[in-house]
Amino acid sequence: MIATAAFVLGFLTIGLTVVFLAFGGGPRGARRNLHRQSRGGNKFALSVMFVVTIAFGVGIPVAVLASNHDNQSKKAPGGVKLTASEQHGRKIFAKNCSTCHTLAASNAVGKVGPSLDQIRPVAALTLNAIQLGRARGQGQMPAGLVDGQDAKDVAAYVAATAGHG
Ligand code: HEC
Repeated sequence: MIATAAFVLGFLTIGLTVVFLAFGGGPRGARRNLHRQSRGGNKFALSVMFVVTIAFGVGIPVAVLASNHDNQSKKAPGGVKLTASEQHGRKIFAKNCSTCHTLAASNAVGKVGPSLDQIRPVAALTLNAIQLGRARGQGQMPAGLVDGQDAKDVAAYVAATAGHG
């Protein structure tokens, strides 16, 4: 965010500078300049254009790539930073849990089970639900949908993101 803001501010500064130079001396000055534009002035304007073009052509893609790399891949919606295993858990969730549960961080809107954004389960509760299943009269969650590291990772992911969407 800060990098992007600095980038935009930089452009505003360049843009305003060009405008001020072009119209320096007010409307009368500009009209006078139209008639006797010096070669030096043209060259200067050209090099400003050149710099601005390069800055746009290279700067914007680089900034976009950089921010994608830093933010999007590791952050679930809601701005939560995920560890590597939570990122793995996110994939597990999409495959095994999202059909039945609502979780905004995964854009999941399942209605069979309770909304995880509302119950915000700690990792241990999710692990227990996965291991034993749940059937307390509000629908059924089969036991052992995932196990081992997958179960731990998905539990950590839910604990980190539930209620943050
Ligand atoms: C077939 C649908 C279904 C799937 C798939 C499913 N669940 Fe559930 N889940 C439910 C239902 C229904 C309940 C509530 C059962 C009850 O309380 O009677 C529930 C309850 C829960 C609870 C609350 C447990 C508690 O004690 O309050 C958690 C946490 C949970 N599920 C996490 C998950 C995770 C993580 C996954 C993916 C590994 C998953 N669920 C997959 C249907 C599902």
